[in-house]
Amino acid sequence: MNGEPRCAVYPSLREELVLVTGGASGIGAALVEAFAAEGSRVAFLDIDRSNGERLAGDLATRYLHAPAFLACDLTDIAALRAAIAEVEARFATIGVLVNNAGNDARHSIEEVTPEYWDRAMAVNLRHQFFVAQAVIPAMRKAGRGSIINLSSISWIIPSTGMPVYIAAKAAVVGLTRTLAHELGGDNIRVNCVLPGAILTERQKQLWFTDAYREEILRNQALKRMISPAEVARLVLFLAAEDSGAITGQSCVIDGGWV
Ligand SMILES: NC(=O)c1ccc[n+]([C@@H]2O[C@H](COP(=O)([O-])OP(=O)(O)OC[C@H]3O[C@@H](n4cnc5c(N)ncnc54)[C@H](O)[C@@H]3O)[C@@H](O)[C@H]2O)c1
Repeated sequence: MNGEPRCAVYPSLREELVLVTGGASGIGAALVEAFAAEGSRVAFLDIDRSNGERLAGDLATRYLHAPAFLACDLTDIAALRAAIAEVEARFATIGVLVNNAGNDARHSIEEVTPEYWDRAMAVNLRHQFFVAQAVIPAMRKAGRGSIINLSSISWIIPSTGMPVYIAAKAAVVGLTRTLAHELGGDNIRVNCVLPGAILTERQKQLWFTDAYREEILRNQALKRMISPAEVARLVLFLAAEDSGAITGQSCVIDGGWV
């Protein structure tokens, strides 16, 4: 047993074409690596060119297929459509889409202008719809697909200090449920994942104080931090045929906070 992996391997993900948005860092980077480790062909979009190229370089020879990075600002709908067209032209039909990109910048009620609202919605909600819209025609033709949208527990616990982000993350659940019903007849499943406090580099740098760590551990049933790789394991399951009867669901991964 020694040295053997203790997590599941999903044969249906081998050779699968997987698109991850916001894959250059944080949970997205863990997703890119987790799918690559399954033998998937991974394409990932991110606005952050330097981290995207670094990750693609790091993983280039580690797994069966080198993940492909495409720089793209997902708030620019024309740019995201062009990037997806390029992925489909270079590779094949996208079988799995993970709508992961987001930005949890803190903001007070007072500082939200109409422009701020639109920008925050564009970076946390709007692209999830338009990326899905772009990949659906090929999935329909293929007669299958799995879409996983990243929401958050922030609107349930409830959290404060970022009302527009939290509204967007609640809307992701509604989007997921209606798309699941729209697309179920085409054998395309749509689920969402609601992480709790996940210890990413950005979280460590910006928000992870001793007081916040105490709050997390007080509220969670599990008295340890949850890693990006653990979120990725849940997304692998929802992407794989092993979850073939699961759609329209909200899967919480928060160490037992909600
Ligand atoms: N980390 C957590 O504790 C946590 C908790 C709940 C939900 N989530 C959700 O999980 C997802 C990933 O979160 P994370 O913590 O890894 O975030 P992160 O900030 O570490 O990574 C987000 C990625 O999205 C990219 N991105 C941001 N704006 C973009 C744009 N306009 N175009 C293209 N790419 C863009 C960033 O460059 C970055 O690589 C997000 O949807 C987030 O809301 C995270």
